[in-house]
Amino acid sequence: MTKISDKNIFTATWSYDKAPESTDHVKIKDQYELFINGDFIKPDKGKYFNTINPADNKVISKIAEASSTDVDKAVLAAKNAFKKWSALSGKERGKYIFRIARLIQERAREFAVIESIDGGKPIRESRDIDIPLAANHFFYYAGWADKLSYAFPNRKVKPIGVAGQIIPWNFPLLMAAWKLAPALATGNTVVLKPAETTPLTALKLAEIIKESGLPDGVVNIVTGAGQTGAALVHHPGIDKIAFTGSTAVGKYIQNAIAGTSKKLTLELGGKGANIIFEDAAIDQAVEGIVNAIFFNQGHVCCAGSRLFVQESVADLVIDKLKHRMNSLLVGDPLDKNTDIGAINSKKQLQTIKAYIKIGLSEGGEIYQPECILPKGGNWCPPTLFLNVSQSHRIVQEEIFGPVLAIQTFRTVDEVIEKANNTPFGLSAGVWTEKGAKIFHLTQKLNAGVVWANTFNKFDASSPFGGYKESGFGREGGLHGLKPYVKFD
Ligand code: NAI
Ligand code: MG
Repeated sequence: MTKISDKNIFTATWSYDKAPESTDHVKIKDQYELFINGDFIKPDKGKYFNTINPADNKVISKIAEASSTDVDKAVLAAKNAFKKWSALSGKERGKYIFRIARLIQERAREFAVIESIDGGKPIRESRDIDIPLAANHFFYYAGWADKLSYAFPNRKVKPIGVAGQIIPWNFPLLMAAWKLAPALATGNTVVLKPAETTPLTALKLAEIIKESGLPDGVVNIVTGAGQTGAALVHHPGIDKIAFTGSTAVGKYIQNAIAGTSKKLTLELGGKGANIIFEDAAIDQAVEGIVNAIFFNQGHVCCAGSRLFVQESVADLVIDKLKHRMNSLLVGDPLDKNTDIGAINSKKQLQTIKAYIKIGLSEGGEIYQPECILPKGGNWCPPTLFLNVSQSHRIVQEEIFGPVLAIQTFRTVDEVIEKANNTPFGLSAGVWTEKGAKIFHLTQKLNAGVVWANTFNKFDASSPFGGYKESGFGREGGLHGLKPYVKFD
């Protein structure tokens, strides 16, 4: 095996110039209010919290904190709006949803920049992935609104009522789209709670919703932290909760609504296995490993955070991976060359650092490329751990950062057993040129999505969701309509 020199002509002599995305087209207000019954209203208790830019830890805006009284108002608005909205024809509902999709497209550049400023993700990702996929989701479900009888042949379906939707900070606008679009298409009304570190694009979406002419109260957006979310979960006027976030909060919600008639879908954590066989196209697989774990700083529930490499190619793959990691650019989320942006919050950075310490104290061998991290914000270099086994905490627990744990295997059965040895069951990836092997593994891996020779690919028409502690229920595709309807 030839070892790749770290100092080849590219890394030795070339460097990137700065390529900042322009921000002069973006308007961010100093203060944002709650969006209830079609109006922007001040919070009942007059409380506000700051949303921070994780690239410099400076305050961007003050955001209204919804109390339980505000949640009451929002649920009431949604309840009042339900009668008319659910009675509209699917064709009419679809028109509004199409309009929202087109308005997102029109303002895509603005949304992309705000997403990167508020959450720290590279502009390349918010511009090319988050925002287009969010628009795509609204387009896709707009198309279903008048075709529900085809989605559920020979069944008569009805909307459930008022959906309380709680979303995380890793894909703020996209998660709002995943939640809102199917709920609206099926005739439900909504109270949405964005995550406290990334509320801005949801509040911008409120502006678009107002502009679209969507009837007042059909979508209400209440900002705040866990307490606001809990008020929504416990509210007797809510008919369904849809939650994406940590497994701990998912368990809390499941407990809280046990014994009520509320319906529930949970999309929780993961510890995805990414499996590289010796017959895989190795260079593509290395790109796939990078995309699986370093995409969005690893703040991805379906991240390929456990890598399994067949022993015969392990040295080659790891060598190429380290080489590739050396050229990843960590830094300013608004620079178009950036590969890894800012860690979403100080709290999340502490969690990631704590796991890196745990990995070291458990005997893992760490590799981090030498990179100069910017000052002032929350940063973590791409990190991998070798010399770890199934019982290591960094192999078992979700880190939600750019940290990869690498193990090797010899046989197909061995890797299936190792891949399934986790409390989670959200995603997996298989890299091989043998189609039969792909089909065999997709049957055997306990994961809601299994990618073959790719990773982290999303599409509005494709269902997504987990098994075991990764949650239940599906979002996206035809399957994503089901949690929002009841049958006559
Ligand atoms: P979290 O689960 O606390 O936050 C997700 C959402 O739930 C936020 O909107 C939050 O305000 C809300 N929330 C918090 N407590 C609540 C409660 N008692 N009732 C109702 N809603 C509540 O996640 P957090 O603390 O920000 O991150 C901790 C860990 O969770 C991460 O390190 C990561 O491992 C995991 N996580 C997983 C996500 C996923 O997509 N699977 C997304 C976010 C976090
Ligand atoms: Mg923020």
